[in-house]
Amino acid sequence: MEASCIRIQFVLNGRPSSAEFTSDTTVLRLIRDVLKLKGTKEGCGVGECGACTVIVDGKAVNSCLMLAAQLDGRAVETIEGLGTPEALHPIQEAFVHGHGVQCGFCTTGLLMSTKALLEENPSPTRADIATAIGGNLCRCTGYHHIFASIEAAAARSSSKD
Ligand code: FES
Ligand code: FES
Repeated sequence: MEASCIRIQFVLNGRPSSAEFTSDTTVLRLIRDVLKLKGTKEGCGVGECGACTVIVDGKAVNSCLMLAAQLDGRAVETIEGLGTPEALHPIQEAFVHGHGVQCGFCTTGLLMSTKALLEENPSPTRADIATAIGGNLCRCTGYHHIFASIEAAAARSSSKD
């Protein structure tokens, strides 16, 4: 059966947006191929690696597993909404200073998982962090620097409260 065409209204990185795509389009394909935002990465494509993580209505989700049609009326945040090269988001700064980045392929997904975590729980324990990034695989860092970076980001955001 041929996929039908769908049009949705949603909020993308704080701005009202609309998009048109076929009904079999995933959020990942919408973001990368239709909206041309290439910061969200495709790793496994089947929900195993977390490279494609974005935030939908405050929750971190694997964008490769969600249909774009499900975004209608909802708010999606991608890495492009987090910070800019000139003005990094505090979580990005913490990863840079904490050496939480090596090849960087997993990084955008980790940053989005971290943002969702800290918005819900500004003072996470190590166990909370492990749960929040449990779906984000990193083949480079060994995770030590990632945990340290997230703890630094949390300390920084709670010191501003
Ligand atoms: S690309 Fe979505 S979880 Fe791996
Ligand atoms: S920094 Fe290379 S996969 Fe995580």
